[in-house]
Amino acid sequence: MKGIILAGGSGTRLFPLTKSISKQILPVYDKPMIYYPLSVLMLANIKDILIISTLRDVPLFERLLGNGEQLGINIKYKVQDSPNGIAEAFLIGEEFIGDDNVALILGDNIFYGNGFSKILEDSVNYFKIYRKEKEVTNKNGAIIFGYPVKNPSDYGVVQFDKDGNVVSLQEKPEKAKSNFAIPGLYFYDNTVIKKSKILKPSERKELEITSINEFYLLEKKLKTKVLGRGMTWFDTGTPKGLLEASNFVEAIQNRQGFYIACIEEIAYTKGWIDKNKLVEIVDKLKKSDYKKYLESLLKK
Ligand code: G1P
Repeated sequence: MKGIILAGGSGTRLFPLTKSISKQILPVYDKPMIYYPLSVLMLANIKDILIISTLRDVPLFERLLGNGEQLGINIKYKVQDSPNGIAEAFLIGEEFIGDDNVALILGDNIFYGNGFSKILEDSVNYFKIYRKEKEVTNKNGAIIFGYPVKNPSDYGVVQFDKDGNVVSLQEKPEKAKSNFAIPGLYFYDNTVIKKSKILKPSERKELEITSINEFYLLEKKLKTKVLGRGMTWFDTGTPKGLLEASNFVEAIQNRQGFYIACIEEIAYTKGWIDKNKLVEIVDKLKKSDYKKYLESLLKK
């Protein structure tokens, strides 16, 4: 499975923070925001990643993450010329996706919680080709998530029936039919490319991700997993959201001593980089708590 991080947009709700710099490079406590969605794809064992951003900001991400070799992954970059909507990611990423399935994560979404890695791995594995005796099955469709929030109208909203099946999807509705927001993390089979090609721009002139999910719902191929109480999800699109996410990361890291979204740690733990490589990375860093944390991993 391929992975796309959409880190475009103009970040208007964060103005003037975003006047000269990309939202997804702003700090969330001690790391650039994009580390968080990148860590989610890595935890899902996705190693081929496309970062989509604006012409202005792609060079910043390239300087930050390069081709991913230092993390044992492959990172490519593409430009989204104007904010034409989330679903445009599949048109921009068509060649990159090829005939594979794809996970999309929004560059300003932060996830954290017990058991989340397992949820990610299960989601990727769902699409894998299973060979049972002589039968070959390739599960297809889409997986999205539902997360209870107090302000569902600010998001995509998913409504379930009493058996847990999806009955409706809404994009930023005035009257939400449920309190389950749809976080910015989606898993799709390859037909997502074809689906995005027939999409028409919405009233706000965007190719909506919710319309893609509606296609899958019509085909009865939309699977929704509820992220429960033990999960934290932040959308950091506003100054308040940004501060809340930073405070949260600070509290967890300083209380438990485990870092959230330490991409080098994930690469090392997964065996994508070896000890020598981690030593090399640590040696290049100047004095910082982040360096100390990586050094502590080497002693384990
Ligand atoms: C987008 C999607 C929305 C989703 C949200 C998650 O909204 O359109 O369905 O719930 O991301 O962050 P945006 O934040 O781009 O307005």
